[in-house]
Amino acid sequence: MGNFLAGKAVAVTGAGRGIGRAVARAAAAEGAKVVVNDYGVSMDGTSPTSEVAEAVVKEIEAAGGEAIAVADDISTMAGGQRVVDAALTSYGRIDGVVCVAGILRERMLFNMSEEEWDPVVATHLKGTFTLFRAASAVMRKQRAGTLIGFTSGNHQGSVSQANYSAAKGGIISLVRSAALGLHKYGVTANAVAPVARTRMSANVPMELKEIGEPEDVAALVVYLLSDAAREQGVTGQVYTIAGPKIAVWAQPRELRSAYGEGTWTPERIAEFLPGSVGVDPMPMLAQLQAMEEAARGGDRPNAR
Ligand SMILES: NC(=O)c1ccc[n+]([C@@H]2O[C@H](COP(=O)([O-])OP(=O)(O)OC[C@H]3O[C@@H](n4cnc5c(N)ncnc54)[C@H](O)[C@@H]3O)[C@@H](O)[C@H]2O)c1
Repeated sequence: MGNFLAGKAVAVTGAGRGIGRAVARAAAAEGAKVVVNDYGVSMDGTSPTSEVAEAVVKEIEAAGGEAIAVADDISTMAGGQRVVDAALTSYGRIDGVVCVAGILRERMLFNMSEEEWDPVVATHLKGTFTLFRAASAVMRKQRAGTLIGFTSGNHQGSVSQANYSAAKGGIISLVRSAALGLHKYGVTANAVAPVARTRMSANVPMELKEIGEPEDVAALVVYLLSDAAREQGVTGQVYTIAGPKIAVWAQPRELRSAYGEGTWTPERIAEFLPGSVGVDPMPMLAQLQAMEEAARGGDRPNAR
């Protein structure tokens, strides 16, 4: 066991499987006391069971670590609050929350139902808010704490997962808002866009060229939860980890600007815009077109 997180209490949502499980186990192995949250649902968010969270607590205890299970649904305010309260009741503090829980309901936008949109956005985006909301109220008073959201490369856009992509984009803005709003209280907020072998990535309908294991992602999360990351001033960042690759995403910024004179009309913009600010080509669209081309040639499409 290491001691990167000695003395800290950390809550991890979606910690019963995949990346969340690896994060919970790694945090415990580094000395943290861990709240293992998992609603224990199938990939589309149905059929909950408390056994999934309890099993990971047993694994952590068997390895000599300390953990408790909370099998609540973090897409509800009460569920998020209970996860944070469990840390406060059992460990007297909450130093980090890691919002990993997620589901998928894939459908083309033009066929997507409200039942496919709402639960996906509620699990990912609201499920990050519920934890951030409950934990930040405590961290603000502690004048220390770390919030971590889970996003995806898919925040750039997705052909058949507009619900998931929109939620993942929202998580980045939520993380950046938390980083800005909580900076003066000593609380950091960052997002991770992982690529790792889990039941969820097994569902991606193409080969991922760059992919690693949940344990790679867990190592990054442990670092982000540690005093080392806090001392290095890491906040408001989005990191990807995919096997041996680690990357930081750009901060959103205006790419080019130009100033016209007088009042804008659609005609003036049609004349002025192409030669001044123009467009910024969409990498995901270029990738999609390359994949469509490859598929027409009979190859299985590659991504990234
Ligand atoms: N695996 C990848 O390559 C990849 C890529 C991009 C983003 N992500 C993101 O990483 C996170 C983890 O993904 P994973 O691949 O480990 O998935 P996974 O399906 O293996 O695990 C997700 C866990 O979340 C739990 N969960 C779902 N809804 C919940 C709720 N309402 N309350 C509490 N728990 C709930 C599930 O029971 C499950 O155990 C997700 O947010 C996912 O979107 C993963």
